[in-house]
Amino acid sequence: MNIDFSHIADLFGTPTYVYDASEIRKRIRMVCSVFKGHEFSILFALKANSNSALLRLMAEEGVGADVVSSGELVAAKRAGMKPVLWNGNGKTVQDKKFFVKQGFDILSLDSVEELEMWHDSDLVKLLRVNPNIDARTHPHISTGMKHHKFGVAVEEIHKVADKIDGLHVHIGSQITSVEPYRAAYTQLVEEIKKHNFKTLDLGGGWGIDYNGESLDIDQMRSVINTVFSGFSGRLIVELGRFIAGPAGSLLTRVVKVKKGEKTFIVTDAGMNNLIRPALYDAFHRIRVLEPVGPASLCDVVGPLCETGDKLGSNRYLELPAEGSLLLVEDTGAYGFSMASNYNGMPLPAEVMWEDNSPRLIRRRQTIEEMYSNVILD
Ligand SMILES: Cc1ncc(COP(=O)(O)O)c(C=O)c1O
Repeated sequence: MNIDFSHIADLFGTPTYVYDASEIRKRIRMVCSVFKGHEFSILFALKANSNSALLRLMAEEGVGADVVSSGELVAAKRAGMKPVLWNGNGKTVQDKKFFVKQGFDILSLDSVEELEMWHDSDLVKLLRVNPNIDARTHPHISTGMKHHKFGVAVEEIHKVADKIDGLHVHIGSQITSVEPYRAAYTQLVEEIKKHNFKTLDLGGGWGIDYNGESLDIDQMRSVINTVFSGFSGRLIVELGRFIAGPAGSLLTRVVKVKKGEKTFIVTDAGMNNLIRPALYDAFHRIRVLEPVGPASLCDVVGPLCETGDKLGSNRYLELPAEGSLLLVEDTGAYGFSMASNYNGMPLPAEVMWEDNSPRLIRRRQTIEEMYSNVILD
């Protein structure tokens, strides 16, 4: 990507998330290529990023929405995404009223019990199945084993088979081997044949290249073609990270370069903007845009009062000068959407780079906005 980050920083300040529109479009087309020859729908999991300007671009490419809250439903509707699927293990009666009023298309039931809430509805209903398969990813983003809270055991499907239209499975996120998928889908295809279901939601989770390892798309195509060769119904995929992750970078300015036994590059972005390194020990490549010194062993840290407030540890980076720019790469998914106001920090700006120019798609939050719903008296 040939993005003028320096111009963006001058125009909109830092920290700012920057998204490359052409990369998003390219990745959606890659997903399409995996399902060619099948009836399929691509949904974007809004939990990865819910900026409606990005979502609108996805809608233009024919992408629908996987939402888990009323807030995400509003973002998807504003962007014109269709179809909309509602996922979640804790849907409340209030949520239900909101969703029914706004309108949506597909429901994923997380339990047999949940069906009671929906007996009078003619929506497409899927039952989330927990296949008890290890996705071989970080434990916090693994979801398909029987001790996880999601879905029901395969043995329970028969209890509601005559009241549902299909199945749903999502075994985790940032999965880099196709084998857990092959195992899960092989189980489900048996159930589908048994009950003559017409729809199967394959979940998301395709792993991206944060640090040299990613899901092999050609292998995934081969798994889909092999496992579903005899299935003529609709396949749904609900991807977040794969579509948005590599399209985004967090642009930040160096506040200090602190040299000592260890060198600390202190930036104006911290765990309030990007929590993944602190939360999961996640790795993101860091690019020094204007290096002035030789490569040194550094920690890149934020300005917050937490030792865990880091963007990268033990990196060999060419040293930047105070005031220069750094990029934290592959942060288009689970970056802004997990940002917080911790330490009294307003949320960052978001910018979309399209047709060789930047467009502000979310203003930086002001301090007044951050406290606007606090009641003092
Ligand atoms: C049910 C469900 N579907 C889809 C996703 C999207 O996952 P990913 O961003 O890894 O594609 C998630 C995220 O964990 C999820 O919980």
